[in-house]
Amino acid sequence: MIGFGTFPLRGEGLESALCVTAEAGYQLYDSAFLYKNEADIGLCLSKGILRRENVILTSKIQGIQYIGKRRFLYLDRLSVKSAYRKACKKFRTDHIDVYLLHSPFKHYAKAYSELIRLYRDGKVNAIGVSNFDVHELQTLYQECGEYPMINQIELHPFNTMKPILSFCKEKGIQVEAYSPFGRGNLVSEIMNNVNLQTIAKEYGKTVGQVILRWIVQQGIVTIPRSTNAERIRQNLDVFDFELSASEMDYIDSLNKDKGYGAHFQNK
Ligand SMILES: NC(=O)c1ccc[n+]([C@@H]2O[C@H](COP(=O)([O-])OP(=O)(O)OC[C@H]3O[C@@H](n4cnc5c(N)ncnc54)[C@H](OP(=O)(O)O)[C@@H]3O)[C@@H](O)[C@H]2O)c1
Repeated sequence: MIGFGTFPLRGEGLESALCVTAEAGYQLYDSAFLYKNEADIGLCLSKGILRRENVILTSKIQGIQYIGKRRFLYLDRLSVKSAYRKACKKFRTDHIDVYLLHSPFKHYAKAYSELIRLYRDGKVNAIGVSNFDVHELQTLYQECGEYPMINQIELHPFNTMKPILSFCKEKGIQVEAYSPFGRGNLVSEIMNNVNLQTIAKEYGKTVGQVILRWIVQQGIVTIPRSTNAERIRQNLDVFDFELSASEMDYIDSLNKDKGYGAHFQNK
């Protein structure tokens, strides 16, 4: 239910974070072509900092890879399968566990049908999308004949995403929350909320832990990122308390539909 988000970590910073996540017991790791850290994670696997058999690797194909870039007289573009192979090479592994379309880029339904083929060929354990709204999920269904297994979206107390959540629940799509603490100045705004601080105190937890609990208690997977060893450990430690219905409702009520995600920028 709780994995580790790796953006924007790279190089030594990422390696020292992964030393802590491995020891803390994180299994799910979220990466992407865009994050330019697939090879850094591959290096950690080859050094034995992470053990391949203990981790669930997620990566994502970027629109620019699939749609392509014009280079002189030819279009430099990759099929989903070739992008996948390149990512495997960077991770120094023969397979990636979860492979997603990073956003609803041009020709996303065609790309998703290639992703379905990759799944049916047994190359990947789970496939899905990220930053898709209800309309885009419906289009995918119409064009590909199935809904994605996963939709990774920006979800935190200021962006509760209720309409997408109920649609995904109805269609059996697993929602995965990115930026669970918000982004930029939203992080401190959320952390300084006095009522969240009161709830946290009541359970002997931090505001960060209360937010993660609010997410997993809704059946949502989440991928917080931290470079602080104590917070990395804290973020997994949310399974020994339960928020009441009124506390869940209170956190829901903080929604302002305030998100930064590609969903809002990348169409
Ligand atoms: N699919 C997409 O389009 C997309 C977009 C954005 C992100 N993502 C994925 O989602 C992951 C997480 O999102 P994110 O990195 O944007 O945001 P996030 O995990 O919500 O927030 C990270 C920030 O929260 C702080 N933090 C972490 N744990 C905390 C705690 N327990 N208490 C207080 N502060 C805490 C971190 O600081 P410290 O390091 O100092 O702890 C960092 O500043 C990314 O790493 C990436 O893998 C996906």
